[in-house]
Amino acid sequence: MNIGNKVVYQIYPKSFKDSNHDGLGDIRGIIEKLDYLQFLGVDYIWITPIFKSPQNDNGYDVENYYEIDPLFGTMADLEDLIEEAGKRNIHIMLDMVFNHTSTEHEWFKRALAGEKEYQECYLFMEGKEGGPPNNWISKFKGSAWRYVEDMDQFYLHLFHETQADLNWKNEKVRQEAANVVRFWMNKGVKGFRFDVINLIDKEAFSDDPDGEGKKFYTDRPLVNEYLRGLNEESFGQADDIITVGELSSTTIENCIRYTKPENKELSMVFSFHHLKVDYDVQNPWRIRAFDFQKLKHIITDWQTALQEAGSWNALFWCCHDQPRVLSRYGNDKEYPVRSAKMLATALYLLRGTPYIYQGEEIGMTNAYFDKLEQYRDIAAVNCYQCMMEQGYDEEARIRYLQGRSRDNARTPMQWSDETYAGFSDTEPWISLTENYDRINVKRSMEDPDSVLHYYRELIQLRKEYEVIQDGRYIPVMEEHEAVFAYKRILDDQELLVFWYLTISTKSGPLCRLIRRNMIY
Ligand code: GLC
Repeated sequence: MNIGNKVVYQIYPKSFKDSNHDGLGDIRGIIEKLDYLQFLGVDYIWITPIFKSPQNDNGYDVENYYEIDPLFGTMADLEDLIEEAGKRNIHIMLDMVFNHTSTEHEWFKRALAGEKEYQECYLFMEGKEGGPPNNWISKFKGSAWRYVEDMDQFYLHLFHETQADLNWKNEKVRQEAANVVRFWMNKGVKGFRFDVINLIDKEAFSDDPDGEGKKFYTDRPLVNEYLRGLNEESFGQADDIITVGELSSTTIENCIRYTKPENKELSMVFSFHHLKVDYDVQNPWRIRAFDFQKLKHIITDWQTALQEAGSWNALFWCCHDQPRVLSRYGNDKEYPVRSAKMLATALYLLRGTPYIYQGEEIGMTNAYFDKLEQYRDIAAVNCYQCMMEQGYDEEARIRYLQGRSRDNARTPMQWSDETYAGFSDTEPWISLTENYDRINVKRSMEDPDSVLHYYRELIQLRKEYEVIQDGRYIPVMEEHEAVFAYKRILDDQELLVFWYLTISTKSGPLCRLIRRNMIY
């Protein structure tokens, strides 16, 4: 399979298209929009979890990996989607959440009911000095341990307390993961994304002097062994499956290990370093203007290292966990169209597989919600609470959420300027971003200079030019303070991508980005 000419489109189903008038997107809604996705030219759609779930973390808390959550439809709907998408040469990629299950999962319930076999599937431990076993902090804030009175033990939850971490040392867990993947392969699914997969090996349970615990559970050596096993027992048995691992706080060396073809682990991985260049390490609640030089160097480092190793990159700016890139590294007020096109050009002509997140292709922006009640994400609510405990005032708390909340990416897809943006005819589960009257698919279709048509062209270029698919990446003008440029070279084909940036002194953290890209 030529992975270099493939493009993936990410769908957050709850916010994509509602077909049954309940204000929530669903599988039939995706089917309705397949022609649109075919027009855009994508090859895969990655759908975030649609399995049965209490939805505490919007589906990343899976109760049953073999059933579709009724919120999204039925198994028959999913089978139709696979078939209808297939008719348009589009394949389905599903999201496998194997670091943890929901506490509503049958295994966890049986563990709580005292069945040792199922207790061993999770990470239960005795407390220490009247408190949790160690000082690890959950990614959603607060202790990573929850006490179970009946057992007088704690269980580990690196995410929400209703997401209990699985014990991958237990063969039963590893086999079940492979069973789940094979089940969906048999249904015709051709791609898998593995959620926070580099966290599945927890080696030592000691206190972390740095106070977080990350180094005790991130990229530990057994992750590679577990992935090789999963590959061998499931997706590696077919030659037309692509896989992507989502990695938390990883390193280039580890990514290479996960993706080197001879290691037989994953096709590619998501890492997030390029989306951390507007963080303030001293103060996690502060949002800074993004560091352009740092961003350039990160891109070049990952491109060159993975290329040398024969590994492959996943290219993305946006996803359901990140604020919209246009509001972050672009100027969504004065130059929305130019910024969006420039950002797409800079990233999607690199070596790797582009992942476009719903709405990015029409230039959707952050939601800028100004009331706590508008936020739905459990992580946003936890952050707000933490800031309150630390003495931050309301304005600072809302400013933080406006810049960082994952809900920025989760507002309904803007299909038209009709009520509820053509997403639904009922009030949606989360407020719309107010600019839907201007930024929507219908309007983008009619305007030949729109961001949408530009994305379509970029996708077509990737399919047409081998240099985009396979060319070597060579950085150009590396130290220039306002230019990010690179060449892609393959035999006698050469492509130069040139990105010029000017920083506005007036408009605060937003930067003005002007595109001047050339394609030979
Ligand atoms: C991943 C998902 C995110 C989820 C978390 C826990 O990072 O992308 O949405 O909250 O894992 O499953």
